[in-house]
Amino acid sequence: MTHRTAAGARTLPQRYYQAADVYQLEGQRVFGCHWLCAGRASELAADAGPRLVELEGESLILWRDDDDRLRCYYNVCRHRGTRLCDEQGVRDEQGVRQTLRCPYHGWTYGRDGRLRAAPNMLSVPGFDRGQYPLREAAVAQWQGFVLICLREPPVELPPWWTELGARLSPWQLDQLVPAARLEYQVQANWKLLLQNYSECYHCPIVHPALNALTPYKDAENDWHEGPVLGGPMRLADGVQSMTCTGQACAAPLPGLDPARRRQVFYYTIFPGMFLSPHPDYVLVHQLHRVAVDCTRVECLWLFHPQAVAAAGFDPGPAVEFWDQTNRQDWQVCELSQRGIASRAYEPGPYSDLESVLAAWDRHYLETLG
Ligand code: FES
Ligand SMILES: [Fe+2]
Repeated sequence: MTHRTAAGARTLPQRYYQAADVYQLEGQRVFGCHWLCAGRASELAADAGPRLVELEGESLILWRDDDDRLRCYYNVCRHRGTRLCDEQGVRDEQGVRQTLRCPYHGWTYGRDGRLRAAPNMLSVPGFDRGQYPLREAAVAQWQGFVLICLREPPVELPPWWTELGARLSPWQLDQLVPAARLEYQVQANWKLLLQNYSECYHCPIVHPALNALTPYKDAENDWHEGPVLGGPMRLADGVQSMTCTGQACAAPLPGLDPARRRQVFYYTIFPGMFLSPHPDYVLVHQLHRVAVDCTRVECLWLFHPQAVAAAGFDPGPAVEFWDQTNRQDWQVCELSQRGIASRAYEPGPYSDLESVLAAWDRHYLETLG
């Protein structure tokens, strides 16, 4: 095991967890220009209608066009800006929805985003329907996930995603299907959740049950610097997976060698996605900023489709285990948020078990400029 070191780094100053200007700058340079996870592509079958997603306070419409290409439109009418649909509006339609009609004056858009009809606009001098398609955001698919990037002008998915996909290929992420989903609202800045996920220094105190399954000192990092950080922890003898019984909920994922069947991996993907491959499932956390001191977390448990189809399949022990662990984490994150707000707070020294946090802070500060 290589020695980890935080190299004397200290925690971030107070304003990074509190200040409106930092929060706004993050909106531009971090969340506004990186690829964010918006769920699983399998939930957007070709025959499904549009689906709404919320990212960074934006309402977005995911919709397949006539060529079956996944598109992502802003939920904003090109006439006077009205939201085109709410959850009800996208769900109600029978069969495949071919158009979206604005509830205000009836401008109507096709699956390719083009404006198809605009009542009474023909008499407007110079009006050209072709100039008013729905505004679009970049969308990509990666390992079965839908990724969206709000950056203008749009950019390609950076090559490190491909490298990460190759590294995770034994888990065959693109084939896995969600078997459970939970959502949380945490009264803490998103970075506190991320930093908390990135170290097991707190495990013996905060998570006695987790620490019994994976002793906290058996953590390693195989990504040390940059947008992806983290690595494996060893499962204790006799433990099969991270569940409330220590027994697996399914057979090991078919691509895993004996070594990987004895480990659980924890990776943060910049800016706000956590990916935790286990022997029998993959846990995903996606952080959504709500306010400088409030974060919404979406959690997904992905299993192999054969496991899900098997008689008696029950993801409950995995879900229960992580739900309990999550709640323990959110509680200390909320306590941190409140303590950091004090005039007495000043940056404190990271331990060597927190080397990944120091690396993450470096990458974050670099990105923020
Ligand atoms: S605002 Fe949408 S048609 Fe007028
Ligand atoms: Fe934790």
